[in-house]
Amino acid sequence: MSATPQQGQRREVFSSRWVFLLAAIGSAVGLGNIWRFPYIAYDNGGGAFLIPYLVALLTAGIPLLFLDYTLGHRYRGSAPLVFRRIKSWAEPVGWIQVGISFFITLYYAAIIGWSGLYAVKSLNKAWGADPDTYFFSDFLQFDDTASFSTNFVPQIALALALVWIAAIVVLAIGVDKGIGRVAKVFIPLLAVLFVIVVIQALLLPGAATGLDALFTPDWGALADAGVWVAAYGQIFFSLSVSFGIMLTYSSYLRPRTNLTGTGLTTAFANSSFEVLAGIGVFAALGFMAVQQAVPVDEVATSGIGLAFVAFPAIINEMAFGPIFGFLFFSSLTIAGFTSLFSLLEVVVSAFKDKLNLPRKTVAVAIGTVMALLSLALFSTTSGLLALDIMDKFTNNVGIVAIALISVIVLDWILRRIDEFSSHINAVSSFKVGTLWRISVINVTTLVLGFTLIQELITLIQEPYGGYTAAQVALYGWGVIGLIVVAAFALSLVPWRGNHPLDGPPGSDFGVDPEIRRVLHQPRKYNGSDKQHNEKGAAL
Ligand code: ALA
Repeated sequence: MSATPQQGQRREVFSSRWVFLLAAIGSAVGLGNIWRFPYIAYDNGGGAFLIPYLVALLTAGIPLLFLDYTLGHRYRGSAPLVFRRIKSWAEPVGWIQVGISFFITLYYAAIIGWSGLYAVKSLNKAWGADPDTYFFSDFLQFDDTASFSTNFVPQIALALALVWIAAIVVLAIGVDKGIGRVAKVFIPLLAVLFVIVVIQALLLPGAATGLDALFTPDWGALADAGVWVAAYGQIFFSLSVSFGIMLTYSSYLRPRTNLTGTGLTTAFANSSFEVLAGIGVFAALGFMAVQQAVPVDEVATSGIGLAFVAFPAIINEMAFGPIFGFLFFSSLTIAGFTSLFSLLEVVVSAFKDKLNLPRKTVAVAIGTVMALLSLALFSTTSGLLALDIMDKFTNNVGIVAIALISVIVLDWILRRIDEFSSHINAVSSFKVGTLWRISVINVTTLVLGFTLIQELITLIQEPYGGYTAAQVALYGWGVIGLIVVAAFALSLVPWRGNHPLDGPPGSDFGVDPEIRRVLHQPRKYNGSDKQHNEKGAAL
């Protein structure tokens, strides 16, 4: 179905490139940087992991970040609208991205709720002498026997409800006034808090032992395919690429915006924060190891345990433990919030475009439905089980698969990459060339294809994490299946409003008229982003 190519409602914009940049950094820097990166690096070769990490950043992370920015900026729409404008049958690709963000948002909110509660609990070390038993038995009241429990844990339900209320309010306020304004306060605050945390950690006795453990390279790990898979997985999650986030945020950019310069700054800030988190976390683990006279391996637990079990144990041993704990968990909460807004915005913006409804209506309606689902799944005694399985499947299968599918659709089938590189070059300071094309197409396809096959074989061979087959089927395979079915079903729902839809390949059909004007009058980039963007804004 093609509609008349006229402009729909005027799209919201971030008031400046800086605000966009802060929002994009806020999205990238999240739970993935603070608790995920340190243990992934440690488990996958320590210092040697930095090599696959950098290769993944340069060959897939940054090229796909540029691609996301180009798609959002060129077609100025949510993920389904952008893919629909590129080719009508490609709309489900956008909805799959929305589906992945939808499920990640549901459990991401729960971890933010826990972090907020732990920030307060740090002040009196509420976990006592045994943080492990406290976290699993008292705090989560975890019960892995039931696949779906209806026993709510009141304090978690309350914290989760507050997280959702905050997210819905910010999104209802709007892109610039809500998301942008919060990012302007939260990102500098996060940087200051986190630097204090890292300095405090580095001053602890034994910090060097922890850094040695993190950075001593295990070169043999580079021969292990799993290490490369982990590096690519980390980059995708951490940079927020390929599941709709950066595409949606860049749809709120002004017509003349330096896309590559902004992308490089986002990627650099994200990786710097990640390495800083690794240093801080391992300095603290080194302290703990020295206190207990054990190797760092024994105190470095993975994932959720690292933040909610190892850190409380460290806080118990430290002179200024409560302050350190409060700052650490507050940083985790703030970093989580700015990423949560971006995840939820992927969903809100998709329904807002499809149904042509006001932002407030969609934010409140969709946000409430998601909040109820999130509460039902993650504030009960089976919450951790659902969270762990859903996290594994949405990240390691969902994000990797959709990144691969997007590249196959956009280039292997529709052959649109050259058109996108002309777009990005027309507005950016740093031009992308053949290298970008090669990275996006060849390296990304090969690596993602390989990664996905490896992961699927492992997951099919035995149920993930020692859970029962039924539990993995419900929260893992079931979620992936539901995302795909819903994506096709939603693509059948008619678009409301005056959206230009499905143009012939190679044309600038569907490209926003304001953007089209800029592309037809390329202005040489003069090195000043301010002037460049102001001129763009005036267009
Ligand atoms: N990029 C976000 C994170 O790292 C989702 O947590």
